[in-house]
Amino acid sequence: MMYSRECPFFSKVKERSLLSGSSSSKKTYHIVLDARGLEESYKVGDSVAIFPSNDIKEVDLILSLIRASGSEEIFHSRSNVRMTLSHFLLHKANLSFVNRSFIVKLLERGGSPSLLEPLLESENKGKLSEFIHQHTVSELLRVAPMTAFDLAELLLPLLPRFYSIANSPKVFPSEFHLLVKYVQYEMNGQTRRGVGSHFLVDLAKEKETKVPLYLQASAHFTLPENKDASIILVGAGTGIAPYRAFLQERMATLATGRNWLFFGERNRESDFYYEEYWRELERLGRLRLDVSFSRDSEEKTYVQHKMYEERKSLWSWIEAGALFYVCGDANQMAKDVEAMLLRIVKEEGHYSEEDARNYIKKMRKEKRYLADVY
Ligand SMILES: Cc1cc2nc3c(=O)[nH]c(=O)nc-3n(C[C@H](O)[C@H](O)[C@H](O)COP(=O)(O)OP(=O)(O)OC[C@H]3O[C@@H](n4cnc5c(N)ncnc54)[C@H](O)[C@@H]3O)c2cc1C
Ligand SMILES: NC(=O)c1ccc[n+]([C@@H]2O[C@H](COP(=O)([O-])OP(=O)(O)OC[C@H]3O[C@@H](n4cnc5c(N)ncnc54)[C@H](OP(=O)(O)O)[C@@H]3O)[C@@H](O)[C@H]2O)c1
Repeated sequence: MMYSRECPFFSKVKERSLLSGSSSSKKTYHIVLDARGLEESYKVGDSVAIFPSNDIKEVDLILSLIRASGSEEIFHSRSNVRMTLSHFLLHKANLSFVNRSFIVKLLERGGSPSLLEPLLESENKGKLSEFIHQHTVSELLRVAPMTAFDLAELLLPLLPRFYSIANSPKVFPSEFHLLVKYVQYEMNGQTRRGVGSHFLVDLAKEKETKVPLYLQASAHFTLPENKDASIILVGAGTGIAPYRAFLQERMATLATGRNWLFFGERNRESDFYYEEYWRELERLGRLRLDVSFSRDSEEKTYVQHKMYEERKSLWSWIEAGALFYVCGDANQMAKDVEAMLLRIVKEEGHYSEEDARNYIKKMRKEKRYLADVY
């Protein structure tokens, strides 16, 4: 059976452990989900899409602010079914931020015109967006109360969150291993938590809470069919997750191609995820490993700086046909890694800027430059 957004598979958390050390500036978890009963196959490089639930404390706060019990029946037009207001707020509604229509309704319901009217002026789109991202639904309901009907009609949908699968199905056939960074930050004097990571880390009780999910196949970000091909894997932070799956699969299929991993995080002592596994592969002569820890020294060193240090060898791997992968942050890291690759191609291959760009373009076309960035 094919599970989907409309018809998810119900998994449960089987195991959960904190991977980052106690001195770490962030918390990153290894989470194992139970995939028994899921007949659908997947390949390394794929992700799971998880439907989180909201925190019951936030739902209770909203119910008290609108003086509702939660048992009120509402019509959920997106799924065309009736459900209780509690169910809607827990499982279907985005309680982190709203859209413009919600702000318009707040004004209609008696919200402060001096606060809200300027935000709705066409030249203040930036201010409106900033205001919306700084205020949760419960914070806005203090501006003016709303009805259960208003919420059902106006709240945005709670969207699934994607996580790279960090195991090979050949090695752990009935599990999904995930590497999840716990999103937590301060805003308006309150601690905010990411909905998906808070659900997976804190709210979902082990072996108890249903975790609805479906598989999200990746088109090209996977291992080559040719087991002799060399692979270069570049990942920062949770971007290392799919590479654990890649290497498990390469070992399980006795792939003979060379494997090279560049990994970057903040501190070696606390953020070297799955170090034992990589070290074991190194000992077996099956992995070349280069790491950079950005906050261990005065000057920041990132994965791309390691690539540059190793440029001669990297270039020889690429010229010999290696596939190049990059995974993790899309905003900065992936762009900087690509810029560094361009520099290496230019310098080591003695190419002009234009020829080096064409070289990378060709790598992309031949599916030898593969990115999974978010
Ligand atoms: C293909 C793919 C694969 C992925 N793989 C992984 C993976 O393996 N592991 C993983 O952990 N994640 C992964 N992600 C990211 C993941 O899907 C979620 O986006 C991530 O977990 C955050 O979701 P959340 O619900 O916890 O946070 P949300 O509730 O979505 O909150 C995140 C939002 O909070 C705000 N925010 C966060 N920090 C701050 C701050 N310091 N200051 C102000 N605002 C802030 C920002 O608006 C941000 O967009 C992947 C994403 C994709 C698309
Ligand atoms: N607002 C959010 O929701 C939020 C916040 C953080 C991350 N994320 C996303 O979550 C994903 C993974 O986050 P993560 O915490 O595991 O990892 P991350 O934030 O990407 O950080 C991992 C490592 O990458 C380094 N890094 C920062 N800028 C870099 C660059 N330009 N080039 C190369 N390396 C760079 C970091 O160094 P330093 O930090 O020491 O500079 C750190 O050592 C990313 O996609 C990121 O965009 C989202």
